Amino acid sequence: MYPLLMPRLPKQNYHDIERIIEVDFLRATEAAALNSLKWLGRGDKEAADAAASDAIRGMFDLMNICGEVVIGEGIKDNAPGIFKGEQLGTWLPGTPQFDIAIDPIDGTTNISKGAPNSISCIAAASPEEGVKVALRDIPSFYMTKLSYGPRVIQYMQRRGDALKLEAPIPETLAIVARAVDKRIQDIVVMMLDRPRHKEIVDQIRGVGASLRMIGDGDIAAAMAPAIPDSGIDLYMGIGGSPEAVLAAAGIKCLGGDMQCKMWPRDEKERKKLIEDGYDKELDRIYSADDLANGKNIIFCATGISDSALLRGVRSQGATAVTHSILMRAKSRTVRFIRASHDLSQKTIRLRTTNREARI
Ligand code: FBP
Repeated sequence: MYPLLMPRLPKQNYHDIERIIEVDFLRATEAAALNSLKWLGRGDKEAADAAASDAIRGMFDLMNICGEVVIGEGIKDNAPGIFKGEQLGTWLPGTPQFDIAIDPIDGTTNISKGAPNSISCIAAASPEEGVKVALRDIPSFYMTKLSYGPRVIQYMQRRGDALKLEAPIPETLAIVARAVDKRIQDIVVMMLDRPRHKEIVDQIRGVGASLRMIGDGDIAAAMAPAIPDSGIDLYMGIGGSPEAVLAAAGIKCLGGDMQCKMWPRDEKERKKLIEDGYDKELDRIYSADDLANGKNIIFCATGISDSALLRGVRSQGATAVTHSILMRAKSRTVRFIRASHDLSQKTIRLRTTNREARI
């Protein structure tokens, strides 16, 4: 017989705070997606970015953490985003610390055009023994990137064939084709549609592989090869460095990998990097683990418009449905979360008003 009144257990210390807090990170990207939706196709990417950032800051204001933004948005557009050095969370003494890499919207131009391929995403790392810098802040504006999924990695381990960032394109595509058991002409490569990619585009087409060019948003694109039904076998090309770190955190949780190298835009940037002491780093090829180091990493993203990674927000009358991914490097559990939001009840905390607001 149990006594009618069980004695209360002493306060439990969660041994793994990330398991509890991860859903709040996800709430932040969901809130960003929902709050920026009204700007879809309205030609104002700054307003969309501001709305997403406001909702993210508002959500963090409710989280008892000491969060420091170590990687913010790219500074290329003077976007009204969340930048490096910003403190997020309540910063109450004794609350858990997180280094945060954040992109309130990756693909702001897509949103302004009502085009696909926009997500909101966050990677967060809590302190870990042996890990000095979990989310590496890369000093160059752009990086050359190559990312691939677990099948390619397993093949490389089995066969000793190694993909190399700077190998000739036909060689790379031949390895990927063998790894995923396809003919080269069935291989699908995703890439940002940019004039700087002309040469690799010609080479990819030259061997008969197929391209999926995207306007913007290469975090989702770089993670796509690790998503089994994305239809993408490989991501390659030059894109933003902050986006490379976020994608690295994501693809690592998915069991894929990425190779990246700094790509100075011009001689001036190269010289500046050398002056700042990064001469040795210029030739370094970073793996996903070099960019997002350790196991205490949470990654989450919510689709705003459809991408190869996630569906965008669907709204119908008083309901909005969001599609998100939530993962941890430690467990490699991958959660796809479809959330239905009743807009007659739903509120989002905004930093600008310090209130709960209706969407
Ligand atoms: P924003 O949404 O912050 O504008 O970035 C979009 C993006 O397409 C990134 O995904 C990508 O890494 C980068 O811009 C590429 O830069 P650029 O547009 O200068 O080629």
